[in-house]
Amino acid sequence: MEEKEIQEKIKQGRSFMKYDEMNNHVLSDQQLNKPQPALCKAPMRDNAIALPKNFEDLVIQEDFTSILLRRKSDRVYSQKDISLLQLSYLLYMSQGVKEIRGNNYATIRPAACGGARHEFETYLIISHVEELKSGRYHYLPMSHELEYLGEVEDLKETIDQSVVGQVWADRSSVMFYWSIIPYRCEWRYKFDAHRAALMDAGHVGQNLYLAATALHLGICTLASFDREFCDQCFELDGEEEFTVYVAAVGTL
Ligand SMILES: Cc1cc2nc3c(=O)[nH]c(=O)nc-3n(C[C@H](O)[C@H](O)[C@H](O)COP(=O)(O)O)c2cc1C
Repeated sequence: MEEKEIQEKIKQGRSFMKYDEMNNHVLSDQQLNKPQPALCKAPMRDNAIALPKNFEDLVIQEDFTSILLRRKSDRVYSQKDISLLQLSYLLYMSQGVKEIRGNNYATIRPAACGGARHEFETYLIISHVEELKSGRYHYLPMSHELEYLGEVEDLKETIDQSVVGQVWADRSSVMFYWSIIPYRCEWRYKFDAHRAALMDAGHVGQNLYLAATALHLGICTLASFDREFCDQCFELDGEEEFTVYVAAVGTL
């Protein structure tokens, strides 16, 4: 790529970060009374597995301040199983649904999100979780269930490829892949939706960091990944839904 092209792309990136005042002067699909998109993606299979919610059984003997101060990125994992309850906690604290507002207008979740649009879906590649076979999964936040999407022939190879050769990730117990369904936030925020959505993704990632830290698990989020490969892995079309953020969680 030529220097000129690189500079042009940098300019585009900066411009994307700037609030576009014109956004205030056009009507959103919400204001035009167009139908609201579904709050969550419908199940992709018919095999949902209920997740436990007895979080009080997880021993977290640490105050909030020390969890915040202990948070860091870990890339060395011991490849042990995490429990189903631990996985359930990680999913709930990052993307679980606490409450539904209005007439199916919004979901309220532990992570902050502009306009409570919660435009993300959570997919997993599980390698070491008690009671679950390894493979690809999709989280159903409304019912707090997991659906099994299918096996992965070579787990390590698939994980490595998904994160463009960052091989430390293939020792994780579970990989999180967050996709965005852009229309969920475009419906309300028009062409400013995408700028805010990446802030929302940061909150999801930070919640997972803190939940994993509270459980003394290692975690590192990743912005470098092979988007097309991840999209294919979870049967996403790459346009109406595509991967935006990834995290590895493993035992220390
Ligand atoms: C948005 C974001 C993207 C990141 N992407 C990667 C990545 O692709 N690969 C990686 O090894 N670390 C990645 N990290 C981890 C950071 O490099 C790490 O947070 C940084 O080294 C600071 O360390 P700390 O988290 O322990 O404070 C990412 C972190 C964030 C928040």
